[in-house]
Amino acid sequence: MVEQVETSMSETGKLCVDGSEFEMPVIVGTEQEKALDIGSLRARTGYITLDDGYANTGACRSAITFIDGEKGILHYRGIPIEQLAGKSRFVETAYLLIWGELPTSDQLASFSRQLTENALIHEGMKYHFEGFPNTSHPMAMLSAMINALSCYYPFVLEFETDKDIDKAATLLMSKVRTLAAFSYKMSKGQPFVYPDPNRRYVGNLLHMMFTVPYKQYEVPRAFQKALDLIFMLHADHEQNCSTSTVRMVGSAGANLYSSVSAGVCALWGPLHGGANMGVIQMLEQIQEGGMDIDTCVKLAKDKESGFRLMGFGHRVYKNYDPRAKILKAAAERVFAQLNHRDPLLDIARRLEERALSDQYFIDRKLYPNVDFYSGIIMRAIGIPTNMFTVMFAIGRLPGWIAHWREQFLQGSGRIARPRQVYTGQQQRDYIDMDKRRA
Ligand code: ACO
Repeated sequence: MVEQVETSMSETGKLCVDGSEFEMPVIVGTEQEKALDIGSLRARTGYITLDDGYANTGACRSAITFIDGEKGILHYRGIPIEQLAGKSRFVETAYLLIWGELPTSDQLASFSRQLTENALIHEGMKYHFEGFPNTSHPMAMLSAMINALSCYYPFVLEFETDKDIDKAATLLMSKVRTLAAFSYKMSKGQPFVYPDPNRRYVGNLLHMMFTVPYKQYEVPRAFQKALDLIFMLHADHEQNCSTSTVRMVGSAGANLYSSVSAGVCALWGPLHGGANMGVIQMLEQIQEGGMDIDTCVKLAKDKESGFRLMGFGHRVYKNYDPRAKILKAAAERVFAQLNHRDPLLDIARRLEERALSDQYFIDRKLYPNVDFYSGIIMRAIGIPTNMFTVMFAIGRLPGWIAHWREQFLQGSGRIARPRQVYTGQQQRDYIDMDKRRA
């Protein structure tokens, strides 16, 4: 298994601080991106670096995913996303991300079997679900229940062998669907539906969500394929906010389930995974006449408005997000197969065209990101808007696991702990209550 490809360290870079020069090693990645290793900076100069939003900070070495944001390139373990989207399935891609190589047919069959056999959750967990009000957001339930898994599978608290990690990873991949579907059932006030061992990964999830006691849900093949593709395209994206959160929490020695539970919380934010809900709300507002496309673009350009074009822009991509390109074509396919068309798709296309020809978006290199078209497909499948980010979480899970595992096996044991530039009060004395002024 390929875990870590060696990187070259023969170059150095010089930093000039307070008139003195300091040589720092240059780390070159396998795709030739370069990083200045400033690990000794503070000890040698007394300075730290300040990098708002970590836009220029490499927090780790990772052999999982490569992105070239300028060119719109995304590779999982070296394989272009376009090839995976055309040939692979989510479960196979998850294996690739977590264990580093495409599985043989025996390995894939064994992994799929374990995903099937572990899909049930402990019956005790049902009572946790029942304790939530049915107005609870499914992301809150998902995060809480993933964390609660460690109470039922305590071996995750103390790994002794690599096999323990593999087992914990497989259990989580399998049970996350059941937890997600049960969250949905709670929010609908419907009885839970147990996993069906005869269904595949995505089909089983949709079955658990949409089957009701009086009607078995037959999963349309087009939906299964489309959701599988969405999961695959979301499966990893190197050091994004939620994955960095998983690594950060994991760096403290926290177990896989707690770390992933924290990742779910980070993903929930509207600037991250929550944007797919924001896109649909924005498109619906246009459809209902609450605003037209021109007003939407105008508002997005106005910094005072607090409004952003949802599903547009990306920290890393300064080109068309390759995942958005694949999903745009997939949305067309799904509606052609269903023989009906969602008016939101046409609004999205017109909005995209309008924004891409606007100088504001051109100057800032703002393109549609993965969230721009994924919600429209999920709507067609019948997934309610408040479950969109849950779907993103299921898709992103293999990436979170792969990063947690990579960090664990790298074994540096170093806790992630950034510094700060303090901007508060300088030292002052405590004031007794009777001497304080309002
Ligand atoms: N609409 C309008 N203006 C935008 C948008 C947008 N969607 N995105 C960025 N900008 C503008 C910013 O106002 C800023 O303008 P300025 O230079 O005049 O100040 C410039 O473009 C750069 O934007 P930043 O906020 O510095 O970019 P950053 O890398 O920090 O943020 C982010 C990236 C959060 C994705 C941002 O583009 C955004 O808010 N997009 C909308 C939300 C969204 O779609 N999120 C999903 C991201 S992908 C994912 O997580 C799966």
